[in-house]
Amino acid sequence: MLGAATAAHQVEGNNIYNDYWVQEQVPHSTFNEPSLDAVDHYNHYKEDIRLMAESGLNSYRFSVEWSRIQPEKDAWNEKEVEHYRDVLRCCHENGITPIVTMMHFSSPKWLISMGGWENPEVADLFASYCQRLVRELGDQMEYVCTINEANMRLQLAALIKEMMHRMSGQQKAADQEKTNSKESDVQVGINLNKENMMLGMMECAKAFGLENPMDMHTFVSQCTPEGDLLVMKAHEAARDAMKAECPHLKIGLTLSLHDMVARPGGESYAEKEWDDEFLHYLPYIKNDDFLGVQCYTRKFFDKNGGADMPEGAPRTQMGYEDYPAAIADVVRKVSESFKGDLIVTENGIATDDDARRCEFIKEAADSLQQCIADGIPLKGYMYWSLLDNFEWQKGFAMTFGLIAVDRSTQTRYPKESLKVLGSLIEK
Ligand code: BGC
Repeated sequence: MLGAATAAHQVEGNNIYNDYWVQEQVPHSTFNEPSLDAVDHYNHYKEDIRLMAESGLNSYRFSVEWSRIQPEKDAWNEKEVEHYRDVLRCCHENGITPIVTMMHFSSPKWLISMGGWENPEVADLFASYCQRLVRELGDQMEYVCTINEANMRLQLAALIKEMMHRMSGQQKAADQEKTNSKESDVQVGINLNKENMMLGMMECAKAFGLENPMDMHTFVSQCTPEGDLLVMKAHEAARDAMKAECPHLKIGLTLSLHDMVARPGGESYAEKEWDDEFLHYLPYIKNDDFLGVQCYTRKFFDKNGGADMPEGAPRTQMGYEDYPAAIADVVRKVSESFKGDLIVTENGIATDDDARRCEFIKEAADSLQQCIADGIPLKGYMYWSLLDNFEWQKGFAMTFGLIAVDRSTQTRYPKESLKVLGSLIEK
């Protein structure tokens, strides 16, 4: 499978019932700008899928927006289910295999108001939503990812702890600089250096009907060790419920992974990081049909722990190193312990230089081709992203897309890189 990926909240527009919308709209939001119409994929999906098919791509990873289906806890919006049926149908009509993600970071607002991803009820609530959705649409589906980057919460927890420390005024100015540069340590676009962050958090908590900002547990927020494992419970419950409904589905989750590089003395730090990021989740995913591997860059470790990238190394717009070989290194490393099929469900580069994107894609694809030649069961590659889109707190400035969009008219401008990716398919 060769294709591209998107996520509902980043492309659809007007996801007014989810937690991101709430956080984008408060007066002291940490978001650079709100998503609003995004790139109106909700209304332009036919054109977007057609452009993919015309370029030669044969698969599309997208997500269903839970808050559209269940805008209230006990609601079920059939009209929105029909929308996703149309999207699935459109994929099939264009010879595109859909890979459907059930939850890609955004949650319904009501879920956060009731304790979000730290409330044990989340596992059953998520599983029920998934089960009912596949009861209605499962016949159109083949590959399903339950949760996107199910390991993201733990990665963020460490960063957020540091940020809270700074907001409490205990961090020295020199260390503040360091914390800001850590934004690029996690994959998802976040801001750690906005003014009035505490005020913004209090406004958000209020909008969710919570008194204490520390009780606000969106998927992309601070988390306890129990909250981390709750995500695994939600995954297992959803997987089993969907299997019971539609045994033909191939079900897995996706993980955000880094190529860990140890310099002399940094071996144990690199191992520990890999353990936290990947091995620690193995018991919960070992019976899955596949694993979605997502990787964008590498991380360095020396005798002092986390270390800087090489001097003068090229950087992406996101601040981390532009290093296309990372994805194949990670696929190889994962295949040592995960024995099921692998799909690269995300990999890509944020750059305004599309010629560089073309090179990045070719280099990544060549190194992955070698993995397949070596017998690794790698079944597909989904470039992130199909469209220039809403990179969470960073807004629309990060351009990962194969297709540019003029948001004032929602006109699509396919880039050369779309052609390059499509041309890699074996006819
Ligand atoms: C996420 C995407 C995000 C991408 C690029 C991944 O962390 O799944 O939602 O846009 O990386 O930063």
